[in-house]
Amino acid sequence: MSVHSDNRGQSGLDSGEATDVRDLHAAILRERPDPIEGREPLNLWVVAFIAALLFWAGTYLTQYSGGFRSDEFAERQINPAPAPVAAGGGAEDPVSKAVKEGAIVFATSCSPCHQADGNGVSGQFPPLAASEWVLAEGPNRIARIVLNGLSGPIQVKGSEYNNAMNAFRDSLDDRQIANVLTYIRNSWGNKASLVTPAEVGAIRGGTSDRSQAWTVADLEKVPVSGGAAPAGAPALTPAALKEALKKLSPDELKSVLQDVGK
Ligand code: HEC
Repeated sequence: MSVHSDNRGQSGLDSGEATDVRDLHAAILRERPDPIEGREPLNLWVVAFIAALLFWAGTYLTQYSGGFRSDEFAERQINPAPAPVAAGGGAEDPVSKAVKEGAIVFATSCSPCHQADGNGVSGQFPPLAASEWVLAEGPNRIARIVLNGLSGPIQVKGSEYNNAMNAFRDSLDDRQIANVLTYIRNSWGNKASLVTPAEVGAIRGGTSDRSQAWTVADLEKVPVSGGAAPAGAPALTPAALKEALKKLSPDELKSVLQDVGK
């Protein structure tokens, strides 16, 4: 309703007024209606500011999101390890891979007795750290110990033990045993060669008729390295093979090479 009251005649002019108040009001009323509260249009500067903020945020994410990968800030990203020079051209070296997997087997199957630090428990569980059994040239004996267990007297690092270790033939597969052996041969300052699942498999197959735990006396008959060959048999090295081949007549040599080539 108009604020103007009509009791002053048709002109709408009060005495002394130069302009008609109704005209003034009409001009105002032609304008848009008052905005509804809460839905007023935004100040243009605020719109511009938010747009600039979104643009900056997008640019920032594009540059620093790292593709939203969960491993973006993993240590190797910040401090990338030098690529292994070993064979395979960039692949993880086989010893550290086996050590990583073997650590899991060790934690569940071995550390309750031999302890996480590999030092064992004096008088009960012999140490694996710096143990001459663990550091032997090949895994022939320690693979047998893990497969079938061990009982009776044993000397480790100059101390005598006479206890029993259980067998893992049925609870660990070749790969797990190989990895845990590589782990104990390369932890706590130990340094010795990789043990492969194939080596463990060969020993498992070669000792499948054995059900009881090993004794040191039995283990000492097993050569420390060189496959499952019986003690005393010469290891098959390329040099030994060459010597053996030299003893063949040319015809025999030819047929052997043809057989190998097939
Ligand atoms: C129940 C306790 C126990 C568990 C579990 C156990 N060991 Fe043993 N381990 C022994 C004992 C005890 C001996 C010594 C046996 C003896 O006195 O004849 C031994 C001996 C050894 C030896 C030879 C001696 C030495 O210290 O170097 C090796 C190697 C070995 N264990 C490795 C392992 C590995 C690998 C595992 C896990 C797969 C394992 N053990 C799990 C108790 C255990």
